[in-house]
Amino acid sequence: MEADGAAAGAAALGQRLAEGGQGHVLRFWPELGAEARRALAAELRDMDVAEINRFFRRARGDGGGAAEVTAAGLDARMQPVPRDVLGSASRDRELLPRWESRGLAEIAGSRVAALLLAGGQGTRLGVPYPKGMYDVGLPSRKTLFHLQAQRLRRLQQLAEEQHGTHCNIPWYIMTSGRTMESTKEFFVKHHYFGLKKENVIFFQQGMLPALGFDGKILLEEKGKVAMAPDGNGGLYRALGAHGIVEDMERRGVQSVHVYCVDNILVKVADPRFIGFCLEKGADCGAKVVEKTNPTEPVGVVCRVDGVYQVVEYSEISLATAQKRGPDGRLLFNAGNIANHYFTTAFLKDVVNTYEPQLQHHVAEKKIPHVDITTGQRIQPEKPNGIKMEKFVFDIFQFSKKFVVYEVLREDEFSPLKNADSQNGKDNPTTARHALMSLHHCWVLNAGGHFVDENGTRIPAIPRLKDANDLPIQCEISPLISYGGEGPCHCPGPPFWSSFVRCITGST
Ligand code: UD1
Repeated sequence: MEADGAAAGAAALGQRLAEGGQGHVLRFWPELGAEARRALAAELRDMDVAEINRFFRRARGDGGGAAEVTAAGLDARMQPVPRDVLGSASRDRELLPRWESRGLAEIAGSRVAALLLAGGQGTRLGVPYPKGMYDVGLPSRKTLFHLQAQRLRRLQQLAEEQHGTHCNIPWYIMTSGRTMESTKEFFVKHHYFGLKKENVIFFQQGMLPALGFDGKILLEEKGKVAMAPDGNGGLYRALGAHGIVEDMERRGVQSVHVYCVDNILVKVADPRFIGFCLEKGADCGAKVVEKTNPTEPVGVVCRVDGVYQVVEYSEISLATAQKRGPDGRLLFNAGNIANHYFTTAFLKDVVNTYEPQLQHHVAEKKIPHVDITTGQRIQPEKPNGIKMEKFVFDIFQFSKKFVVYEVLREDEFSPLKNADSQNGKDNPTTARHALMSLHHCWVLNAGGHFVDENGTRIPAIPRLKDANDLPIQCEISPLISYGGEGPCHCPGPPFWSSFVRCITGST
């Protein structure tokens, strides 16, 4: 009976797939054992083949959706961000205390949440575990997750001290089928890094199959589809599927800071950014740094046909990226650092109304797969198919009041993208150095100085032996300082220092 039922189930599945032109994914079914058949059937059962075919047609520019925008078409339509939507941590210095205290008041009222995008596969970094678990080799050996958790703890403490109330910053963590289990295990193992378990909320984004250029689903193995997360813009579908906006509403959250996992300097739930967006009455905001190198792999915030969006580094032409304004700076210099502000109300509108309008971006990739006629596994040398992804910033177009907040790169942006061996940029060494250089500056700004092992004072700008040399290794625990406040008053172990001592106090 059971075998009959399974056979009938497989037949129904086969028919549904064949109707959608994807019957080939069962090509190797007869060769599979019982366990592999069960796994493949389970994978395919949840797959909406008609929808995948529709996504493919839209992403390819037919089937009624807007066409994938070509770089050439974009050039003429891009305009830089106008000054009136821009706030700047360097040019608007006198306003920072006001924005900060507004943000801290919101945090103190438990009206702010952080939302971490951690569903990526970290392919460029080349580790088999989630990027947040990466240890860049700081003296403390803290991972990215650890640093972020401690920044949240410190921020809660600062808000509580200023407002005399108890508060929570819920931390929503989006994972994918590839990262969920290991991420959760890591948090359990580390006791949620001192945060309350009920305030760390994991949810999972969706996956999509990789397709050949003809729209056919690719098989990773004979009994396994080549699946990948549906992009960080998969966030909005996942928010709806897991009732996350309702959870935010239940907790009284009104402002959400959404950010990427890989920036070691990220100011999670940054009160200045939150305060700035609130003062401007924005429903949506983006934090940027000045892009100075035309080929830097960051998207640029701009307007296209008058509508705000990010033009991704893979979508801008070199000629446009190189354009300069009258001041000699890059014309499109609002470099996206993947830190976004959304009101909960805006997210609710996106989930309920706008999400289906979001267009997939297509990336042509070399996708290892099983040849459907020979059954051989192929490791392609040139792109053989596509992955479809939505992007988190694609909802900017629906905002009624959009703002941009510019910060200094050395204070807030050092992403971990590549392994040390790959190239000299955005790797564990640059991330580690960026954090320690910043903390070094905090000490100097607070009136401290450094001495060497003989007690001799080290000049504020020490001489470097080479580009990889960092003579002063200073790491300050986020539990001591969130953004440079107060390090001079906290002598002792929080000052991690491998071969110099860090002098505290103003002497
Ligand atoms: C991203 C930005 C880019 C920005 C750059 C800054 C997007 C689409 N692009 O590019 O504009 O200049 O960061 O460093 O945001 N992720 C998921 N699910 C997925 C895919 C990714 O959660 O399906 C998460 C990753 O875990 C990571 C973040 O999204 O936290 C960014 O992903 P990544 O692919 O590294 O983006 P970049 O190409 O570096």
